[in-house]
Amino acid sequence: MDDVSTPASFEVLLSASQVAARVRELADQISSDYRGTTPHLVGVLMGAWIFMADLIRHLSLEATVDFLGIQSYLSGATSSGEVKITKDLDASIAGRDVLVVEDILDTGRTYHYLRGVLSAHQPHSLKLVTLLDKASRRAIPVHADYGGFQIPDVFVVGYGLDYNQQFRRLPEVRVLPNIAST
Ligand code: IMP
Ligand code: MG
Repeated sequence: MDDVSTPASFEVLLSASQVAARVRELADQISSDYRGTTPHLVGVLMGAWIFMADLIRHLSLEATVDFLGIQSYLSGATSSGEVKITKDLDASIAGRDVLVVEDILDTGRTYHYLRGVLSAHQPHSLKLVTLLDKASRRAIPVHADYGGFQIPDVFVVGYGLDYNQQFRRLPEVRVLPNIAST
């Protein structure tokens, strides 16, 4: 891999203003679709917290929040296929209109697993919003109810997304050089 201490050299895939504009559109759509209800946003840690923080500030209705901690990548860019829950939900989702907030949908394994776990707790409804979607990488047919951007098969960092805990702080989405996301 290239020198990882110089993220300024990584290609910008989505600028901070492009992301901000799209997050606002998603929030408007969600506010309209959930009108009259109080959705329960479940953020998937760690990658989704920055997206979720921006998303909720643009909703025009009340929403409650919780977080689920999961590890789907043991390290680096390779999916293990195994999903481990590292932090369970604090509140019951029974009867709630649950909107799962993800940073990125890649192979689909993580959400496929989460959907099974969450639906067993009998929410009133269960939907997914993801900021990024690598549809060409899907190994399991899951789709997002709300999607920010379709992106190509590259490994991205920034706006909450990391590579080994690095680069979450970047305000834009950049392509990490020389990472084959197999
Ligand atoms: P999936 O189970 O393959 O759909 O992977 C979903 C998870 O993998 C995401 O929530 C991310 O945490 C991680 N992931 C997948 N692609 C990327 C990427 O390009 N950058 C950073 N994390 C990624
Ligand atoms: Mg994630």
